[in-house]
Amino acid sequence: MKSKTWLFCLLILGIAVSAEAQGEQVKKGKSLVEGKHCAICHKEGGKGKPMEELAQGKTDAFLKEAVTDPKKAISPQVLMPAYKFTDEEVQAVIEYLRSVSKK
Ligand code: HEC
Repeated sequence: MKSKTWLFCLLILGIAVSAEAQGEQVKKGKSLVEGKHCAICHKEGGKGKPMEELAQGKTDAFLKEAVTDPKKAISPQVLMPAYKFTDEEVQAVIEYLRSVSKK
């Protein structure tokens, strides 16, 4: 095979693998969010905004702090508990929030 063809195949493979990894992250985030029942508050008519709006226009840094230290990131009075997630778990939760986000 020509080297260009090889490169092309590698590129496609790389995209497929990273899309797969992304999908895994989203799935993991979804199960964390469901396990912690974030939707009790984050739904239409709940105490917080609906899940699809959480990641809208927000940076990863803000989302991370909002989840692990909401009193600092959002407001000292916020009715949201701080969650003890590992960095990897927070990242998965963020990927999930972005996947359901309306943008
Ligand atoms: C007891 C209710 C409650 C629970 C449970 C809860 N939250 Fe919240 N959350 C709030 C409230 C209230 C706010 C502030 C109002 C808002 O922005 O929605 C908030 C804000 C946020 C924000 C910042 C949104 C913004 O635009 O400033 C994020 C991100 C967030 N929550 C994610 C989560 C995630 C992820 C979980 C589950 C791991 C969760 N929340 C569980 C009540 C809750």
